[in-house]
Amino acid sequence: MSQNNYQNPNAQAMAPSAEPDRQLYFIKVLRERMAKYMTDTGRTLTYNVVTFGCQMNARDSEKLSGILESVGYTRTDSEDADFVIYNTCTVRENANLKVYGRLGTLKKVKENRPGMLIALCGCMMQEPHVVQKLRDSYRHVDIIFGTHNIYKLAELIYDRLESGSMIIDLWKDTDKIVEDLPNRRKYPFKSGINIMFGCNNFCSYCIVPYVRGRERSRRPEDILEEIRRDVADGVVEVMLLGQNVNSYGKTLENPVTFASLLEEIEKIEGLERIRFMTSHPKDLSDDLIQVMARSKKICPHLHLPLQSGSSRILKRMNRKYTKEDYLHLVEKIRSACPDISLTTDIIVGFPGETEEDFQETLDVVRKVGYDSAYTFIYSKRNGTPAAAMEDQVPEHVIKDRFDRLLKEVQDIASHVCARHEGQVMDVLVEQINHQDAGLVTGRLGNNTVVHFPGDASLIGRIVPVHLIECKGFYYMGELYEKR
Ligand code: SAH
Ligand code: SF4
Ligand code: F3S
Repeated sequence: MSQNNYQNPNAQAMAPSAEPDRQLYFIKVLRERMAKYMTDTGRTLTYNVVTFGCQMNARDSEKLSGILESVGYTRTDSEDADFVIYNTCTVRENANLKVYGRLGTLKKVKENRPGMLIALCGCMMQEPHVVQKLRDSYRHVDIIFGTHNIYKLAELIYDRLESGSMIIDLWKDTDKIVEDLPNRRKYPFKSGINIMFGCNNFCSYCIVPYVRGRERSRRPEDILEEIRRDVADGVVEVMLLGQNVNSYGKTLENPVTFASLLEEIEKIEGLERIRFMTSHPKDLSDDLIQVMARSKKICPHLHLPLQSGSSRILKRMNRKYTKEDYLHLVEKIRSACPDISLTTDIIVGFPGETEEDFQETLDVVRKVGYDSAYTFIYSKRNGTPAAAMEDQVPEHVIKDRFDRLLKEVQDIASHVCARHEGQVMDVLVEQINHQDAGLVTGRLGNNTVVHFPGDASLIGRIVPVHLIECKGFYYMGELYEKR
């Protein structure tokens, strides 16, 4: 090392090129720098990560938090912080609009907080027109990156501090999966585990494949290792995450099926509950159904997005199944796992949807009897095939269908959810109830929420609860103590 380098260490030049070593190096450089700053000023530097969107984003936010804490920031719940990052979503227009609104407010915060850094990442940043708008009109943003380079946060902060100007680092796609970086789990007792990234399905309404890139699976040994580590650290429930978990493993060097991955995970001692999402109906195999039926740990819950009950619309959506295929699949699942809870996603007002098509959706909703359904108004996403379709449905028609669907879904769900009334079932206690501090809140294996009298000592434990009364989509209960 030359004298010059020693006096003015240039971390970019000295950093190792291989990951994760490179990022661990930048974390160390920043940590030293921030520690010195905090000692000199007597201040504690804080961070706040705001997550929009789905569980993938929530999981990414844990990674961001892990990096920020390793660097020396302390977490705060307020956006009046030294480092604020929005992890954005763009699946529907309203998710997108929220971000601009909040960025405006953040500008004022920054004016009163010298040295504050604002970063934006996630799905919305993968859209070039968004980044252009930010460049032009949101100059108070310091760092912009996307969905493929989350792991680079420490390096990007370093670059921002060195250059003093806006840093934009966006990749169109990647085949890289970087393992073994810091992580900060939101809950000590449950964790989300990425098993794959990206999506290859190109449903015609959906922007996810464009902003999350091509499908890539993590190696089973990396997944198992992460779960074992989490379990040793107190985790009892894992949620395996992917846009289409049923196609897990197809692109690996040594292909593995999702069903066989689940069987391996089942063997991990100390792990009590396994969940996964999302399952695409077109790829749900008989093997998977058998594994679910045999398993003692896989929760009796399947989220099986329908999107539409009309075969004609499903074809235009590029979903690759018909109404009949879907109903047949539900029958197979129900006969193998009789007590399973089914939930779904439905889009109302896809281009060309007629009243008859909508009636087909209602018909499936009635036939299946979902425990709950997320209903969405179709949102036109730039660059997707559906956005260019001519016969967009008028807003008032969509609104009317949406209201009718919601009512149907809720009426059915309240009956379906109540089927366990009077029974004693296991609940994983997650938190003190937000409204009533004398209650705790947890979930049944089938994902239904249960509230019952209890205290913080129960959090993270799986306990038997007498389900006294179903109130629509949740239960009021009582801890069951054997006499
Ligand atoms: N990979 C998952 C879904 C991810 S997006 C799957 O295939 O099931 C979550 C949900 O958002 C989708 O199931 C769909 O119902 C909804 N969604 C996606 N794009 C949408 C759009 N353009 N307008 C309205 N809802 C949409
Ligand atoms: Fe979007 Fe379809 Fe992929 Fe789900 S499977 S993320 S709806 S393209
Ligand atoms: Fe949104 Fe991206 Fe998830 S667009 S729904 S955060 S994959």
